[in-house]
Amino acid sequence: MILYFSGTGNSRWVARQLADGLNDEMLSIAELYLESRKLVLGKDEPLGFVFPVYSWGPPQIVLKVLEALSFDVVPSYLYFVCTCGDDVGKTAAIFRRAVKKKGWRCKAGFSVIMPNTYVCLPSFDVDFKSVEEKKLEESNGRMEVVLGAVMHRLKGFDCHEGGLPILKSYFIRPLFNAFLSSPKKFHVTDDCIRCGLCEQVCPVHNIKMNEKPEWGSDCTMCLSCYHHCPKHAIAYGSQTQNKGQYLHK
Ligand SMILES: Cc1cc2nc3c(=O)[nH]c(=O)nc-3n(C[C@H](O)[C@H](O)[C@H](O)COP(=O)(O)O)c2cc1C
Ligand code: SF4
Ligand code: SF4
Repeated sequence: MILYFSGTGNSRWVARQLADGLNDEMLSIAELYLESRKLVLGKDEPLGFVFPVYSWGPPQIVLKVLEALSFDVVPSYLYFVCTCGDDVGKTAAIFRRAVKKKGWRCKAGFSVIMPNTYVCLPSFDVDFKSVEEKKLEESNGRMEVVLGAVMHRLKGFDCHEGGLPILKSYFIRPLFNAFLSSPKKFHVTDDCIRCGLCEQVCPVHNIKMNEKPEWGSDCTMCLSCYHHCPKHAIAYGSQTQNKGQYLHK
């Protein structure tokens, strides 16, 4: 069983590679968040989590669904694969602690570097096309390594922490979650053609089409709405002016 969360498609692609390679099923964490239901895990069935890294840690929605999850068996091989634009800080330690709190053990974890999607702060933007193409090219090889490791149920953690991981994950991340994850700054410009795509692609149904799209308060900051808009009409305060868009094809 593979539980995945994805805003712009990178992690969905990773989950798809794993599901095809392992002949396993993929379930959406966003759907489980909206409607929790009892899942059935086989005695020796592997349990994988796939998600993007948000501010050097797992997204809150992933941690919430993990916390609420229950099975009749203890997962025998629980692993995660996270995708990131650059580095993941202490994501592995944070995720492992959340798993341990349930009385389970996370046996393995991997990171995969993919095109960046974060655009809501100064100097953060999508990658140049050449960098995007290089990352996508290299992600194929990386996924072969990850898939091989999961297939053989290898134990261990192979994540690209990057520099200053403690500062990023334990000091900056809490500030990000408290002050920089609010959907209040989302708005549309006059370029909006009211096509309704943003409403359709929000994984947690946080956008309602009225006269124009309106954002509710239950946002994961996945930026699916921003990156899908065909008119580039979604802005986050003034931070996204002249920033690019990206979707995994
Ligand atoms: C809110 C947010 C925070 C992010 N924080 C990080 C980060 O701390 N480190 C990093 O390397 N990439 C970061 N990124 C980039 C994503 O982790 C990366 O692009 C990921 O592959 C997106 O996955 P998805 O397409 O499945 O949504 C962030 C993206 C978003 C939207
Ligand atoms: S996707 Fe863009 S153009 Fe379409 S309704 Fe949303 S903001 Fe408007
Ligand atoms: S409102 Fe936009 S950023 Fe927030 S969860 Fe929905 S798609 Fe993601």
